[in-house]
Amino acid sequence: MNFFHTHISPKAVEYATEALRTGWVSEGPRVKQFEAALAEKLGFCNPVCVNSGTTALHLALALAGVGPDDEVILPAQTFVATGLVILMQGAKPVFADIDPATGNIAPDSIRRKITPRTKAVMPVHWAGYPCDMDEINAIAAGHNLAVVEDAAHALGATYRGRPVGALSRFTCFSFQAIKHLTCGDGGALCCLRPEDAREAFVRRWFGIDRAKSQPSILGERLYDISAVGYKYHLNDLGAAVGLGNLEDFPQRLARRQAIAARYSRELAGVPGVTLLRQDADRVSACWLFTLLVERREDFIRKLAADGVPSSVVHLRIDHNSVFGGLRDDLPGQAWFNARQVAVPVHEGLTDADCERVVGAIKEGW
Ligand SMILES: Cc1ncc(COP(=O)(O)O)c(C=O)c1O
Repeated sequence: MNFFHTHISPKAVEYATEALRTGWVSEGPRVKQFEAALAEKLGFCNPVCVNSGTTALHLALALAGVGPDDEVILPAQTFVATGLVILMQGAKPVFADIDPATGNIAPDSIRRKITPRTKAVMPVHWAGYPCDMDEINAIAAGHNLAVVEDAAHALGATYRGRPVGALSRFTCFSFQAIKHLTCGDGGALCCLRPEDAREAFVRRWFGIDRAKSQPSILGERLYDISAVGYKYHLNDLGAAVGLGNLEDFPQRLARRQAIAARYSRELAGVPGVTLLRQDADRVSACWLFTLLVERREDFIRKLAADGVPSSVVHLRIDHNSVFGGLRDDLPGQAWFNARQVAVPVHEGLTDADCERVVGAIKEGW
């Protein structure tokens, strides 16, 4: 049994082979098709495809105008990418506490961390479970902050009937190898404002506005770059893989959600296990199934002995010296960090695998 699962559908192989045969492997029509399909099938708002989740986050901060001396609020319960992109803009990461019942950033803690320098807030949907987005967007609107959702875990999640990817000014997804849907590597930046999307299209490719550039006798089109751009575009080979994998995504997501529902049912009340809270107004994408357990290392050893892999996936990131070292003002984070661990929840699991996961935990450790 694997902890993560990389799914490559037959359609992904077919479309990728076709891209290779045509020789068109750079950015082209497949990227446009992939963007249109993400909007149509998953409700993404103005998606702009890029070459990773990290570059989507970085581009969003650049578009939000985050720069030196600005502060950006984020949770420590995430992967380092969320914090590093803030440093890349010369800004300061400010860590807010999480709700230990979900692993998601706590709106009250965001309020307490806001200063006149705060420019943006980056909620992370831990394990794919949506944060309190109405509250977070209301706080942000009241303080003129940009909201940049890190939805790397949350492909297909919904909040109050609306898809993640259409809730905040910016939402960033990852299509890296072990995510729900992979392009090999890739990402998408969704923008509520069409003008942000237009700017993202330009700045994902060096800041060159292809639509406005003029052909010239010299062989290079004439253009003027007015803001720093990046080489962040997705290419057609990756988009072909993504398009193919998108076709069976709804069934694969449903399978993950069914496995998670089974775990929730069968693990409720097991001594030493606390399940994360699940409110009725939101649906998790179930990228991880995180539990809170007592004596975590014993738990991991016992499951491993039964052939069940488990992992914390990511510990809090603020301990890294690049972020200034461990904070002691995040009690929810400290509690969660000491107990959280995830068990396999992907569509590659058989029913017998799921039985083994539940059985191993129920036996105790
Ligand atoms: C929460 C979170 N944010 C951002 C990223 C970065 O995504 P990518 O690897 O596509 O750059 C990851 C990847 O694991 C992640 O887990």
